[in-house]
Amino acid sequence: MAFLDKHKAIETHATLLMVLSLLVVTIGGIVEIAPLFYLQNTIEKVEGVRPYTPLELAGRDIYIREGCYVCHSQMIRPMRDEVERYGHYSLAAESMYDHPFQWGSKRTGPDLARVGGKYSNAWHVDHLVNPQAVVPESVMPKYNFLLDTEVDGKYIGDIMSTHRMVGVPYTDEEIAAAKEDFAAQANPDGDTSGLTTRYGDKVTIANFDGQPALTEMDALIAYLQVLGTMVDFSTFMPDPTR
Ligand code: HEC
Repeated sequence: MAFLDKHKAIETHATLLMVLSLLVVTIGGIVEIAPLFYLQNTIEKVEGVRPYTPLELAGRDIYIREGCYVCHSQMIRPMRDEVERYGHYSLAAESMYDHPFQWGSKRTGPDLARVGGKYSNAWHVDHLVNPQAVVPESVMPKYNFLLDTEVDGKYIGDIMSTHRMVGVPYTDEEIAAAKEDFAAQANPDGDTSGLTTRYGDKVTIANFDGQPALTEMDALIAYLQVLGTMVDFSTFMPDPTR
């Protein structure tokens, strides 16, 4: 056939073949990459995913400060062994309000993407104070000092404003009420109506560390308890058009 003869010209001239190959690869590259410059967001929204409450956000900062990510990942891959061990694979939307995300790259300990609700608050206190008391062979360090460090959320509004700059949709009202919501989440006997109107009824409100004072332990456990719990996987359906 005629066009096959022309193809011979390409196949027998290395330079021509190279130039044309580059052209084809360039077109392919542009088609794949160019649209990304015009899209605001490539993450599919999923019902239930919300920004962290002030206390959870503070706990997340403690998680980062203490380097928990060095030993723990937060990303369940869509493979059978992972899904059976940790639960539904992680969705991109589940870390859309994480700046920076905490996927991690090493698992000295288990993945924590769905640790929320797996253990009681008291279990977390015991475990963080002395992991070896709970799991004798554990290599996890002790974080007992978190029980002694009080927090008052003085700067949490500013931290939320910073997160808003990078795209987390905190409202002016949420930022104004940050300090109040911060304390409310760890005080089940107080007025928590503002907190639940702003962040929803599913927010866990508890005296996480079991002590009267509001400590870094409360914040860290509030954060651990929300991990992986925002999406209801009994009703979640992946978008079939994707
Ligand atoms: C040196 C590595 C290391 C560091 C750092 C570390 N962990 Fe761990 N973690 C482990 C190991 C190993 C286990 C499994 C044994 C155990 O439960 O103690 C574990 C278990 C856990 C578990 C129980 C998970 C489950 O599903 O059973 C939680 C929760 C946890 N770690 C939270 C944290 C937090 C929060 C921090 C930071 C304050 C942290 N870890 C820092 C190694 C680490």
